[in-house]
Amino acid sequence: MLTRRALITATPLLVAGCSAGESPYDRAARDLWRLPDLGGGVPMLALVHAATLAANGHNTQPWRFRIQPRVIEILPDFSRRTPVVDPDDHHLFVSLGCALETLLRAGLGYGWAGEPELLPSGGVRIAFSSAPARPDALFQAIPHRASTRTEYDGRPVSAATLRGLEAAVGPEVALRWVLDPDDRAHLTDMIVDGNSAQLADPAFMRELTDWIRFDSREALAQRDGLFTAASGNLTAPRWLGERLLPMVMTEQGEAERIARWMKSSAGAAIFTGPSETPAGWIAVGRAFTRFALKATAAGLKLAFLNQPVEDIWMRRRMAAWMGAPARRPDLVVRFGYGPELPRSLRRPTQAVLVP
Ligand SMILES: Cc1cc2nc3c(=O)[nH]c(=O)nc-3n(C[C@H](O)[C@H](O)[C@H](O)COP(=O)(O)O)c2cc1C
Repeated sequence: MLTRRALITATPLLVAGCSAGESPYDRAARDLWRLPDLGGGVPMLALVHAATLAANGHNTQPWRFRIQPRVIEILPDFSRRTPVVDPDDHHLFVSLGCALETLLRAGLGYGWAGEPELLPSGGVRIAFSSAPARPDALFQAIPHRASTRTEYDGRPVSAATLRGLEAAVGPEVALRWVLDPDDRAHLTDMIVDGNSAQLADPAFMRELTDWIRFDSREALAQRDGLFTAASGNLTAPRWLGERLLPMVMTEQGEAERIARWMKSSAGAAIFTGPSETPAGWIAVGRAFTRFALKATAAGLKLAFLNQPVEDIWMRRRMAAWMGAPARRPDLVVRFGYGPELPRSLRRPTQAVLVP
């Protein structure tokens, strides 16, 4: 995808202005990004709330939840597909995996151990049983994890922290570090090439534009999509934002931004799942989420740069470079120390429940 996406990340044309006090958007974000104290109750709604805080492609939130006694089902919501950037629903199922892992981690924190079982429909059924509450660092990190699309400060990450991240990913999903200068330069080239191809594709741009929330009024009304200010940048009414987009999102400008972002990061990681199936993609989402929560707990910021894995030819080029031409690299994530940006929103829990 674009450097997630000039309007999300780019030239500060009209920066959202909020005078004294908290804006309605900031209040909504603050109310959203927390784990409620349950006072010992059965936390099904709290678990669904936590699951919705998971990373998900374009923030489409492609999920529905069915609550039964001690059971939650996470179901794909195909009405929220992004067919251009994600024609085979890879990102959709990775997003379900992110929600599943977040839900399981929240369950452990609240004292409910979940046993997941994949459903033939592509969903997941999780049966819960009571367990000692384990509000560990990954649990605490759930409301702090975010996609932070900006420059980081270039500081390296210690070997011990990298080992911790590797351990969090686990054995099912392969993790390839991109740390040394040659590798980083090569990966940067692939991201730039993928990005340029997406920029030149009108269908990609149309789909992306439809999911951009150009100002806080739109973001608050929809509570989904990619709010420009959540990447630290301009807001504008949609009619203006749509007109400005081609001007601020130039091939050259985007290439430079990617290079700066990669340079400022401590490194990047490429995730390759066990199989090219929905089950394999859910496993990738789960592994990424453990990585992201562990990184967040360690004070790191992270952001995807998935351009080289979103097109089959780019993907093959990357797989060949990685020395595993028969496998499908699933995700590209950069990480490092950096600033906090405004957070994204989610739809209310009630809106994602299957009645
Ligand atoms: C499968 C998947 C693919 C994604 N691809 C990108 C990407 O290429 N670039 C990007 O900036 N963000 C990407 N994201 C991040 C989402 O846009 C982000 O999770 C969503 O907007 C919610 O924001 P949050 O992560 O800050 O909660 C991806 C997320 C997932 C799960």
